[in-house]
Amino acid sequence: MRYQLKQIYCRPWTLSGLSLKLIESHYENNYGGALRRLNAIAEQLETLDFATTPPYVINSLKREELTALNSTLLHELYFASMGGEGRVTDAMSQALMRDFGSVQRWRTQFSAMGYALGGGSGWVLLTWVPRDGRLINQYASEHGQAIAGAVPVLALDMYEHAYHIDFGANASAYVDTFLRNIDWKAVEGRYEDASKVAPPRPLVQQEFADVPGVDVEDVRAMLAEGKPLQLIDTRPKHFVSRQQDIAEGVIWRDPERVGEWMSELSKEQPVVVYCAYGFHIGCRTAIALRDAGFDARYMKVGHSGWKAVGAPVRLNR
Ligand SMILES: [Fe+2]
Repeated sequence: MRYQLKQIYCRPWTLSGLSLKLIESHYENNYGGALRRLNAIAEQLETLDFATTPPYVINSLKREELTALNSTLLHELYFASMGGEGRVTDAMSQALMRDFGSVQRWRTQFSAMGYALGGGSGWVLLTWVPRDGRLINQYASEHGQAIAGAVPVLALDMYEHAYHIDFGANASAYVDTFLRNIDWKAVEGRYEDASKVAPPRPLVQQEFADVPGVDVEDVRAMLAEGKPLQLIDTRPKHFVSRQQDIAEGVIWRDPERVGEWMSELSKEQPVVVYCAYGFHIGCRTAIALRDAGFDARYMKVGHSGWKAVGAPVRLNR
């Protein structure tokens, strides 16, 4: 694998308050240097016999590969982030308002993160997280720190080499100058692409696709609001004796005897049942109740999910 150098992207002579000398040095020495390192590492890795190489050599080369690879990617994004007049487009204003409350709040956060890295080094990134369907301002103290599966759309380089030639130690002035040079039209294009990235695929239980499920946080909200809810733990007996705890305020009923205990329930109020992890036992119990005319659903994440969100349990003795 041979990595190719990318063109500088922004037109350096159009930038305001950033000298050609600074931008050239950054592109040639730091971006170019990272790319040259990356290719040298890639060459070594290609000829490496992983089966016989000592672990510390593998660790070291793969760590350096990650650092150099992310450095090239982030530098390409950094140069592509500049070249505009810093005017936020309508579409980006709306996205920032949705995820940060207002453009000003976004700007205050982003700038403060840049100021905070002055004297240190790292990156401030505006990043789209497909899993959550939102933008966040992301911190990185080194090139390798990235959010898994996320797509950065705007990058501010806070390594000293990015500003020292023009600004000396005045990192804050550099951050303000960078913000004035952002090419928001280009950011918008990248945001459009990023927001098309599908979130990770959810678990699908094909055989229970028709059984309505409910999230644990919705169940907790219903309980907190005092809404009528018949919440029943229907883990198999051997799970209850092994795990030894039960959700606070919840009763346990044997899923194998659902035909017997369903008469205790009211058809006027919703029923939510759950098993250990949210698979077949909870689904089948919900089906049995629905077939008998109850408004029953299963809690998707089960007893383990109840505990994973920190909901209260008590010992079941
Ligand atoms: Fe840099």
